[in-house]
This record gives sequence, structure tokens and C-alpha cells, in this order.
Amino acid sequence: MSRIVVVSNRVALPQKSGGSAGGLAVAVNAALKDKGGIWFGWSGRVAPEPSDAPEVTHRAGITYAVIDLTGEDYQEYYNGFANRVLWPVLHYRADLAEFSRADLSGYMRVNRMFADHLARILKPDDIVWIHDYHMMPLARHLRERGHMNRMGFFLHIPMPPADIIQAVPQHAQTVGALAHYDLVGFQTDGDRDNFARYLEFSGGRITPDGTGCDIGGRQVTLGTFPVAIETAAFARRARHAHRTRYVKAFRESLSDRKLIIGVDRLDYSKGIPNRFDAYEHFLRTVPEWHDRVSYVQITPKSRTDVPEYQEMDRDVSHKAGQINGAYSDVTWTPLRYVNRTYSRSALAGFYRVADAAMVTPLRDGMNLVAKEFVAAQDPCDPGVLVLSQFAGAAAELGAGALLVNPHDTESMAAALKRALEMPLAERRERHSRMMRVLEARDIDHWAEAFLEALVPEETSARRAIAL
Ligand code: F6P
Repeated sequence: MSRIVVVSNRVALPQKSGGSAGGLAVAVNAALKDKGGIWFGWSGRVAPEPSDAPEVTHRAGITYAVIDLTGEDYQEYYNGFANRVLWPVLHYRADLAEFSRADLSGYMRVNRMFADHLARILKPDDIVWIHDYHMMPLARHLRERGHMNRMGFFLHIPMPPADIIQAVPQHAQTVGALAHYDLVGFQTDGDRDNFARYLEFSGGRITPDGTGCDIGGRQVTLGTFPVAIETAAFARRARHAHRTRYVKAFRESLSDRKLIIGVDRLDYSKGIPNRFDAYEHFLRTVPEWHDRVSYVQITPKSRTDVPEYQEMDRDVSHKAGQINGAYSDVTWTPLRYVNRTYSRSALAGFYRVADAAMVTPLRDGMNLVAKEFVAAQDPCDPGVLVLSQFAGAAAELGAGALLVNPHDTESMAAALKRALEMPLAERRERHSRMMRVLEARDIDHWAEAFLEALVPEETSARRAIAL
């Protein structure tokens, strides 16, 4: 049987898996848990010298192989090109991109270094599954080293229209290099179609159904695979967490007030200032809700070495202070703004006791908080999801969530009021519509669908053996 070799910038090492992990880490962990395989990536450490060889740990059928980055790699590849060019541009924020040739060459250097390490690990029939924007040119570097394995790439973040992609300086070397994979997967059909148009502008011929491209003598398959969650396990986790002393104490601290929850990394793509504006508008225009609602926004800081994130940190804290200054009472704090990480179990419990969630990014690949919030609800008395139309999750949860445009403050405030006042029958109906989707398409379905598209024969052989 072929091995699955997963590559991503961040690896959720087992000793760290108790803490809170990003969407990619959670999805890859769940995808590998039954299949086993190798997960290769950055150790999360910055060292004076590059690693000679990966540090290897085996746990529950998964081999974790990680390397350190040097300070220069971290600065140029991770903080620089990945997070100051690709991240903003692919989130439709070309205005925030800060490009330097040194950062691009650091990005290419680290991708080549990943390819060198992988070249020593790979066997000819390994299936290689590469994740996210840090590793776009990796297949090309591996092919140059003679590896003709099946290689798939999954993009966890959005893919904007071609003319925005072209704002990435030297985009042909990075985004364009995705054409060296056998399969490129996206979160939504819109993302996939945007990339197809980009390939067309770059000289590719797209198949009439839009799922294939002939470019430079290579065939690339394009597919949509909305990333998912372990729906049943997360629902169980929430049922359990809800009874813990910790979550009970949290709920009691709110007295009998309704709870609105938001959970996002501190990132400009998440639209936290817009959400705070909407909450402020709600408090200003609907005074009957004063002292009857608390909004808890959990926002761990992230990418703190990147200037745009430092600026964002100051802005959001300032807005939170203004709201509380204007509306608090000695016995009521309308907004609790918390820069801490919580375990996934604690979050599951917080979601379960919340009456509404605000998931309102300006742009998001998928947003698994939206899915986890839904899975965590008590189906007899569920909370309401207020969801941005610009999150990938809107394509699947749009029939049950209250969809909002995060740039429209007044409509968001109105949606918040509607969520808090929604009758039980409507809440149940909306929740069950969303749960049906999450149950039918959970994380196992996501991994199977991607691997099936990447290596159809192999996946059916595995299935035959499992039977
Ligand atoms: O998909 C984007 C993503 O990789 C998420 O999975 C995760 O939440 C986030 O970015 C983590 O960012 P970083 O690795 O830069 O902390």
C-alpha cells in the first residue's frame, strides 16, 4: 500500500495537540488519524543553523518529521512572503501587501529546502498531499528532483480572481507553480473557478466543465473539497464540556444574560473591528438589550512579528475599550475581549452555552468556528449562527445561518437582534438544516474525497482491503 505523505508549514506535534490548533492542523490530524502516514513540516522553532535532518516522532500510526527554520527563513519566508504578500493578496487585500525580493527569495529557498529533505524520505509510490500557501512551489521543486509521485495540493485560504492574483509580484513562480500538481483542491467552487481563469490567462486550456487544465504539456485537475470537522466527535465533546465545572462557572458569570460568542485569531481578515462596530450600533439603537446580553470575543494574538498584525492589535483593543467605556455599568460589562487560547474542549463548551455566534470575516477560506459552533449546539435549544457571506462556510451553511455582509454595520446589528430574539421553532429548523450538511460531509468525507480524486485506483484498493 502506498504511504500518504502530508506536508504543511505547521505540524500539530502530538505533545502540543492538547492546546488550541488552527483549522489546517485540526483537519490534517483528523484526516491522518485512521490512515496513518508521514506529516512533514516546520517544528515551530527558530534555530541558528538549518536542520541537517528532520526530527522524527511516531505516535498512533503517524510519523511526524519536522525541521527548524533559521531566523532569516522565519523572517523572509514565513513573516515576509507568506504572511505579508500571499496572505493579504489571497484574502483580497492587495493594498496590504509588502513585497521585497529578499522575502521572495527566502520563500523559494525554504521551499527548495523542504524539497531536499522530502527527496530523502519519499518512495516512488508515496502519495504526496501538500497544504496551503506556504508551499505552493513545492511540487515543482520535487519534480525537478525527479519525483513523479502523485502530488495534490489543498488551499485552505481563498483564491481571488485572476487580476488580484496578478498583484502578487512574480506570481508565475509561486501561485502559477500550482500547475505542477496533479490535483489542486479549493474550499469553494468560486475559488476553483478563479484559479481556472488565472490558468487560462497564463496560457492553459480549461476543460468545458472547468475541472481540468492542460498547461505546459501537463494535466492538472481542479476540484472543490470544503474542509470539514469531526462532526459527531465535536458534538460529543461539547455535550461533555458543557457539564464541566469550568464551563458552568463561565455561564454563571454571565448571570442570566444572553451570550454572543466570537472566536477568531487576531487577523485583519476576520473583520473583528467591523463586528465591534455592529455590536456598538446594536447597543446604541436597541437599549432594551442593555444588561441582558454579553458578547465574549476570544481572540488569541497571532503573527505578532508582522507590523500589520501589531497595528490591528492596537485598533481592536482600542475599540473594545471604547465600547465598554460607553456602555458598561458597575455590574455589567457588555464586551469581554480576551486575548487567550483555550483548549478545544473548553471552546466546545463555550459554544454550547452561547445563544449566538458572530462569525463575520471579511474573507475566509472556510472558517471552522462556524461549523464547530453548529455541531456543539443542543438540538433542542440551539443557538443561532450569524455568518459572513464571505466565509467559505456560507456556501454550505447559508440555508441555516443568518448571512450578513460584514461591511454593512446596520444589517449586522439587525441580524444580531434577530438572532437573540429568534423563536425556538425557527432556531431548531435552521440548526437541523446545517447539521444535516455537517453530518453528511464530515472530515473523513473531506479526506476521502480529496484522496479519491488524487489517486482513484489506490483509494478503491484501500477500501477493498478494509472490507
Ligand atoms: O488556513 C490558514 C491557517 O493555516 C489556518 O489553518 C490557521 O488557523 C492559521 O492559518 C494559522 O496561521 P499560522 O500558522 O501563521 O499561525
